[in-house]
Amino acid sequence: MSLAEKFEWPRPDYSRVPYRLYHDKDIFTQEMDKVFRGDCWLFLGLEAEVKNPGDFRTTYLGDTPVIYNRGPDGKVHAFVNRCAHRGATVRREPFGNAKDHTCIYHRWNYDLEGNLQGVPFQRGVHGKGGLSPDFDKGDHGLRKLRVESYHGILFATFSDKVQRLVDYLGPNHAHHLKRLMHKPIKVLGYMRQHIYGNWKFYNENLRDLYHGVLLHEFQTTFAIARMTQQGGSKLDPRHRHNLSWGIEGTDSDEDAAKAYKEARVRDGQLTLKDDSFLGFRQEFPDRISISICSVFPNACFQQIRNSLATRHIRPKSVDDFELYWTIFGYEDDTPEMIRHRILQSNMIGPAGLISLEDGEAVEIVHRATHRETDTATVVEIGGRGPIVGTEIDSLCIDIPCRGFWSYYSELMGIEADGGIR
Ligand SMILES: [Fe+2]
Repeated sequence: MSLAEKFEWPRPDYSRVPYRLYHDKDIFTQEMDKVFRGDCWLFLGLEAEVKNPGDFRTTYLGDTPVIYNRGPDGKVHAFVNRCAHRGATVRREPFGNAKDHTCIYHRWNYDLEGNLQGVPFQRGVHGKGGLSPDFDKGDHGLRKLRVESYHGILFATFSDKVQRLVDYLGPNHAHHLKRLMHKPIKVLGYMRQHIYGNWKFYNENLRDLYHGVLLHEFQTTFAIARMTQQGGSKLDPRHRHNLSWGIEGTDSDEDAAKAYKEARVRDGQLTLKDDSFLGFRQEFPDRISISICSVFPNACFQQIRNSLATRHIRPKSVDDFELYWTIFGYEDDTPEMIRHRILQSNMIGPAGLISLEDGEAVEIVHRATHRETDTATVVEIGGRGPIVGTEIDSLCIDIPCRGFWSYYSELMGIEADGGIR
């Protein structure tokens, strides 16, 4: 029986999300098909990672292994990392440079567009064995994906009917990503975080502005992000992506202390012996000092002060996912600026504070809810009902989570009757 036949949303505005959706193995299987192989553009990587012909990287889209590389034609190609012969992983290295790709199992060989070009002993030996003469290599390449680049950010899709990438992103996100990629970038390093929770809890975490200024006491204490600052959310017209933003220096410590005290929230307990790495070097004319830009279903583009990174959500199973971080700066950064960006990124990553807290939050929710079949979350910070417009002028909201569920439901074929869009 399909999910659509046996699933009902408690409310049409997606303000109650049944825990079943995060824990059911069959639902996970359907997600890999209908979401990750459905009408979505999936974040693949950065052009800066595959600069030269032959440069390749391996990754995952959903739980599908994928290779992307730059071909001799200068274009980036992506294909499923699974041999067309008997299904083995072709490329096992995370990155490299090569003229072609050869599967280790039976040495079938593919060019940089994923076309099969060599089969050992194709004609057999001494006239015996091998493939039949009518075997057409053209029918046995690696499965190709469509690839588009938006200002150096690569997206891929399995769909042949998804809208153009720029339309999929929508104007707010297109503008923001162009801002982030306004000059040539330089990859500074990678971090990986294995989180034992469902991948959708993390998508909610990215769209939940409310937690950002409560869970992350470090952010509030050092005025990186707090409820009293100027900020809010920008959405795409379909409400599936979210951009949380804030501007430091738009509130005072007294303002913040008063507001947090009135809300009876612990704050200001932390101190640092050396706070030199906290500094914000203004580098964008809009003065935005923190922006968490999520793109449905697998990406986040982060600017926390001068820490710039992509975060790639790679679901492993219904119970866990990998968060793959690519830290970057700009090609014209001074050595001192690069050091500053790396220090700030360490503060935010899995061995620092902010992402360690997000990972823990996802895991305590996942563990506490895995037996819940009849109960649901409450998603109504910032109000209920339809999402009006694409800009919300408050940090005290989790409205973008409801937009995530609305588009997810459309792809999964489980939209609520009269559901918001
Ligand atoms: Fe967070």
